[in-house]
Amino acid sequence: MFNSIDKIASWAKAEGFIYPSSEIYGKFAGVYDYGFYGTLLKNNLQNAWVKSVVQKNSDIVLIDSAIFMHPTTWKASGHIDCFDDPQIDCKKCKARHRADILLETYGINADKLPISEINQIITELKAKGTVFKCPLCGSTDLTPAKRFSLMVKSNLGSPTDALTEENVVYLRAETCQGIYLNFKNVLDSTRLKPPFGIAQIGKAFRNEIIARQFVFRTREFEQMEMQYFCHPDLVAKKYAEWKNARIEWYQEYGISPEKLRFYKHIKLAHYASEAYDIEYQFYCLGNEFKEIEGLHARGDWDLSQHSKFSGANLTYLDPKTNERYTPNVVESSVGLNRILLAFLDNAHTTETLENGQTRDVLKLDYRLSPIKVAVFPLLKNKPDLVAKAQEVYSIVAENFMSEFDDNGNIGKRYRRQDEIGTPFCVTVDFDTLGESNAELKDTVTIRNRDTMQQERVSIEKLKEYIQNSI
Ligand code: GAP
Repeated sequence: MFNSIDKIASWAKAEGFIYPSSEIYGKFAGVYDYGFYGTLLKNNLQNAWVKSVVQKNSDIVLIDSAIFMHPTTWKASGHIDCFDDPQIDCKKCKARHRADILLETYGINADKLPISEINQIITELKAKGTVFKCPLCGSTDLTPAKRFSLMVKSNLGSPTDALTEENVVYLRAETCQGIYLNFKNVLDSTRLKPPFGIAQIGKAFRNEIIARQFVFRTREFEQMEMQYFCHPDLVAKKYAEWKNARIEWYQEYGISPEKLRFYKHIKLAHYASEAYDIEYQFYCLGNEFKEIEGLHARGDWDLSQHSKFSGANLTYLDPKTNERYTPNVVESSVGLNRILLAFLDNAHTTETLENGQTRDVLKLDYRLSPIKVAVFPLLKNKPDLVAKAQEVYSIVAENFMSEFDDNGNIGKRYRRQDEIGTPFCVTVDFDTLGESNAELKDTVTIRNRDTMQQERVSIEKLKEYIQNSI
């Protein structure tokens, strides 16, 4: 288990899960790259989410909308006017702080308060004699809180054009806006009618004031979002169903119920009429419960706003009741990188073995493990063993993400696979070649990550054995 965010970050780099971005240029703050195992784990999380949210629900479809959208999208959605954080700068050490997070350390909840109220609270704090200071250098020379937009700007068109109001485009701050803009397309091009959902996975960008907690909060990240469109009378029922379904999903993939909880928002984002977070207790963040997913009742805010700004009719006429209404939205919004951190935090275990030694194991649910099977020849310098092991590797790699390893002794190779969470290690030995016992010819040992028990299985049955276990 990692008892600090720095430890999990250095482990993730050393094991090939996550690297800091642009490291050879001295890193690029708040942005990360994913290595081989991190990419595979991310893919597996996406597949698990699509299976649960889309594949098992005939009333939900998947789309993939563009990152760039018409700039008016963000005016209509309220992001240009409201999507910001309160920023305070330290005039001495030049550090930037989020005012609401700073106030948290004084026991004050300033979440989503307007800037004027935050400055009022600070003035009152100081008047009571509290020393309101920079947590990094201790200076009391701080700027008042000011609005800091989280929207990331870019420009399209001629590369020589200046970044003006006319040519500015925004990198999307949440993927769901692409869903609202395609609501009518999906309605017109599929047989779906409300209630139905649209899901999508993709990149989102936010100019976070502080992005210091590894992949927990970054400036470029991925979301897995599902927007469920329904009649206003159905919202309460669907909201309750999605809350249940989503928390159960984390449990299905190995997070125990005690490490998960709901947090009800009192102060709401500009679009929400009801909001809960699913929080996970991060061991690497001091055992604190932190948001991993947002569940929001967004009412008809999004479709009504886009209808108002675009002129498009985004209502639905129910042919049975003849009622025309704007569908209301129930949203589930998951941060893919953030849940990847949660699953790593949850799975990493250090075990003490009977011989007193320890081993690090990533006890991921097998379906999430980046590599499902590792294949080893018992010895590296025996060409017959290596050739047979490569043959076995080709067979398993046809069906499962696999790895071939002939480096170091078998014990070390097992440990390497334990550390990245590989459920099965297959070893090709002299018995596989039938050298001492003809009955064992074309059989291999298969070792289970969690029990460390080994079984002898015929090569012919390997696929079935692994398939059944996963
Ligand atoms: N469409 C609603 C929406 O975007 P949100 O609560 O702002 O709601 C949803 O974000 C989820 O996205 C969060 O629960 C978190 O998991 C993830 N997320 C948000 N900002 C993030 C960031 N800067 N870095 C990583 N993940 C982030």
